[in-house]
This record gives sequence, structure tokens and C-alpha cells, in this order.
Amino acid sequence: MAATQAASSNAGNNAFKDKEKPQAVRTANIVAARAVADAIRTSLGPRGMDKMIQTGKGETIITNDGNTMLKDMAVLHPAAKMLVDLANAQDIEAGDGTTSVVVIAGSLLGAAERLLAKGIHPTIISESFQRAAAQAVQVLQDISTPINLSDRQTLLRAAATSLSSKIVSQEPKLAPMAVDAVLKVIDQKSADNVDLKNIRMLKKVGGVIDDSEMIDGLVLQQQVVKSGGGPTRIEKARIGLIQFQLSPPKPDMENQIVVNDYRQMDKILKEERTYLLNMVKKIKKAKCNVLFIQKSILRDAVNDLSLHFLAKLNILCVKDVERDEIEFICKSTGCKPIADIDSFTEDKLGSADLIEEVSSLGSRITKVTGVKAPSAGVPKTVSIVCRGANSLILDEAERSLHDAMCVIRCLVKKKAMIPGGGAPEMAVSHSLSRTALTSSFPDSICFKAFAEALEVVPITLAENAGLNAIKVVTELRARHANGEPNVGVSIKRGGVGVMGTDGKAGEAGEGVMQPLLVSTSAIELASETVKMILRIDDIALSR
Ligand SMILES: Nc1ncnc2c1ncn2[C@@H]1O[C@H](COP(=O)(O)OP(=O)(O)OP(=O)(O)O)[C@@H](O)[C@H]1O
Ligand SMILES: [Mg+2]
Repeated sequence: MAATQAASSNAGNNAFKDKEKPQAVRTANIVAARAVADAIRTSLGPRGMDKMIQTGKGETIITNDGNTMLKDMAVLHPAAKMLVDLANAQDIEAGDGTTSVVVIAGSLLGAAERLLAKGIHPTIISESFQRAAAQAVQVLQDISTPINLSDRQTLLRAAATSLSSKIVSQEPKLAPMAVDAVLKVIDQKSADNVDLKNIRMLKKVGGVIDDSEMIDGLVLQQQVVKSGGGPTRIEKARIGLIQFQLSPPKPDMENQIVVNDYRQMDKILKEERTYLLNMVKKIKKAKCNVLFIQKSILRDAVNDLSLHFLAKLNILCVKDVERDEIEFICKSTGCKPIADIDSFTEDKLGSADLIEEVSSLGSRITKVTGVKAPSAGVPKTVSIVCRGANSLILDEAERSLHDAMCVIRCLVKKKAMIPGGGAPEMAVSHSLSRTALTSSFPDSICFKAFAEALEVVPITLAENAGLNAIKVVTELRARHANGEPNVGVSIKRGGVGVMGTDGKAGEAGEGVMQPLLVSTSAIELASETVKMILRIDDIALSR
């Protein structure tokens, strides 16, 4: 009796301890996630390649941006999707380093796989990795140098490093533009974050990237309505932004108006005339001389008659302003949207020194310049007009510029920089390997694995640049052991070199600097995702 009982409880235990399935699930997850990391590995660094992606709609995207690549790839496996989300998280947190974060996560997963094969429990690995990540962040903080936002040269370096891996790396104008745009919208003394929504980018095909310009004010894609003969240039503009239309109301679809008498016809026309004239007069009375009209799907913004009145009273008119542009226009000109003619009052108007329609390189845009400095609490805004020969390069230029602005935003959030080119990863790797030597299980083995996994960044940078990766990494290890934490992969010298400011023995630095926040957030987010993937032991389908 006792024997059978023992046997049955043993069987239950065995059924519970089905070790095969969790292992299989874990391995499948790791393989899928690593496949994603391998797919974008070749895009890392200044000599990284770009990817061409064809979307379901038939559009083509050419990009080097990790987040854009992954977002547009059709990734199906749930664990692989976690890496897509990881790139997205890095994009939100730091804006740059989205390729690095995925490459690091892939490499950490590889390390975890080897540790699992040795029979170490996944929870133990993930907890130890978490401790390693915390130490990594500490090391990065130790090698960072504080910066000052008034030091424009340093900010320019950071922006240039971020742009160096993009198609537009040769453009000299973009880095200063990114720096100036961000510095314009913040208060340099007190800022600790940047709202990039205050920087508006307008893409226009035509010309080359070097024709891109930054405008201290507002640029609208819409043109001035000229058919009524109204002005196209107004100085000392008083801007009104209306959400109603200057055209007669339309009858409902099913209604019909039958007019069988010419006097009635006359009356209708007269009504329309007075209706419109009254509206335009009210607008003029509020001393408004520039009118922006929000787009409506129900009615025409203006008709010939109202345009005629507007032209007579010398009011410039821009129609088809999109709903999502309203906020930016209000912020930059200081106007308030006006929902109906009765509330059209002077205090809702914005002002600018000059508004004019300009034509450059085959397209016309409306520029609003000389916008008054906003009162305290209202952020300043700038607009950037991106130019490019075709939409593919234009889109990539916009993404690259966004990355560069994110880098400056990182520096505003956390005012510290570290050398780039794989130097920070090597420094962390060196420190972790040393800790591993003196720790007990499991940190001894897991820290070592973590340290080796981080070497993927310099290895990949070297591989992508056509260098001998083994030679570069061993040389890097030696230099870091020698107490030179800012030595990294030098593309210029075709080997290793001092990245940031000048090195130990007076070796000139290459000025490759990146924000501390990009690297710390990459390591933190990557190890968190690895922890999540390791802790999964089953995949179930839901209805
Ligand atoms: N001139 C350079 N020399 C050596 N390494 C560089 C240089 N410029 C940038 N790097 C390194 O290249 C890496 C960044 O590459 P890249 O910009 O392609 O990817 P990312 O920043 O991780 O992702 P993404 O820009 O797509 O969001 C960083 O490790 C950076 O230090
Ligand atoms: Mg980058």
C-alpha cells in the first residue's frame, strides 16, 4: 500500500517536473529574439549598412535607425516582438542607441543560453544579470564627464556622433541645426527636459539636404489663398485662427430649395452677401489682418465672395490648416482658436512681425517670422524645413535629425557625456570581469558572461568597418586593463584609438562623444528584456 502511494506521488512529481517543455520554450524564445538582433547587427556604427524595407502598402523605406527598421519589419514570434518593443522603449527614453540596445540584448541572450546549458537556473541568471547591469550603470557614471549646456562645441560633437552613422553624415548643416533648435526651445539655465513637439519639421522634396533651414518662428505648408486678389505679405501681422468657415451654410443632403421667382433668387444672393460681409467686417473690426482657417470636411473654407471681401479689407488668408497643427500655431504665435464669429475678439489674436509666402526650390511655403517672445510659462517654438532630392532621403534625413535632437535632449536631461565607439561597453566589460574574479557563485560566472556579451558592441563596430574584430577587441582589452577607459574602435585609424578628449599619454582624442543617458538606458532596458524572456517557461494561446 505504502509502496503504491509513494509511486503515485512520485509520478505526480514527475509530471510536474516536465523539464523538457520549459527548456524548449526558452530556447525557442531565445533563438527567435536573437534572430532579430542578428538581422540589424550590420547596421551598427558609422560604417553600418542601411536596410531597405518594403511595407505592405508598397512603400519603400531606406533607414539606418534601429527602431524604424524593427517597427516596419513583420515580426511574428512573441519573443522577437519583445525586442521590437525594446527598441521602441529606447527610442522613447533616449531617442538614439536603438540599434545598440537590440544588439546588446541579443548578445546577453546568447550568454544566458550558454549559462542555461550549464544547468544554472534562469531566475538565478536573470537576477545576477540585473546586478551586473546596476554595476554597469555605476561604471558608466564613473567614466562620464559633466558638461555645460552653454558649451556649444561639446553639444555639436554629440550631435555629430549620432549623425555619423546615417546616410546624411556628410552634411555639415544638420548637427548645428539640431543643437540650435533644441537650445532655442529651452531655457538653458533651468531646463531639465525638452519637449520636441516645440520643434516642427516640414519635409519638402526639392533641392538638396544642404538647403534645409531653420526658421525662428512658424512655417506652414499651406499657401496663401490668392484667387481673390488679397495680399501675400503682411507686416505687423495680427493673426486670427478660426475654426468656422467663411462660406454660406450648406443645406442638408436630402433638402431641396426650389426657387421659381427671380426676386427670391435675388433675396438669397443678398442674404449670402450680408452674411459673409458681416463676418468679414467683424474680423476686420477686431484688427485682424491675417486669417488662418481650419480645414473642414463639411464646408468650403472660403468662397469667391468672402475672398473678395477679405481682399478688399486687406486680410491675408490661409486655408486648410490641419487639426493637429492648431496647437503648434497657437503656441508659436500666441493666438487662440476661435470657434464662432461671435467670439472673435482682439484678445484672441496672435502677432508676428512678418508673414509672407515665399517660393524656393520649386515649392511655396508660408513663413511667419518675428514672433514675439512668449510670456513666462509658454515655450518657444522653431520650425525646420527639410529639403532633399527625393522622399526616401528626405524621410531618413528627418529621422536622423530627430535622433540628433534626441541626443541633445538626453544631454539636457542628464548633463554628462561618455566616449563612444565601444569604449563604454569595453570599460564596463573590464570592470565586470574584475568583479567576477572576486565574487562567489552565481555572480562569478554570470558577471563574466555579461562582460563578454557586452563586447559585442566593439566587435560589431569593428566587423562593420571591415577591421579584424579579434585583433581590435584583444587590443581594447589590453588598453582598458591598462587603465584607459576612453579607448574605443577608431574607424579613422583603422584600429583602436582614444575616443573622447585626449588620452593618457597625450594621444589626441577623436571627439567621438555620446550622452551618458543613451548608454545607461540601453544597458538597463536590454537586461530587463533579457530577464523577462528568461522567466518565460510556457507559451499559451488565448481565445
Ligand atoms: N566616429 C565614430 N567612431 C567610432 N564609433 C562611432 C563613431 N560614431 C559613432 N560611433 C558608435 O556607433 C554606435 C552607434 O551606431 P548607430 O547610430 O548606428 O546605432 P544606434 O545609435 O545604436 O541606433 P540608432 O541610431 O539607429 O537609433 C555607438 O556605439 C557609437 O559610439
Ligand atoms: Mg545612433
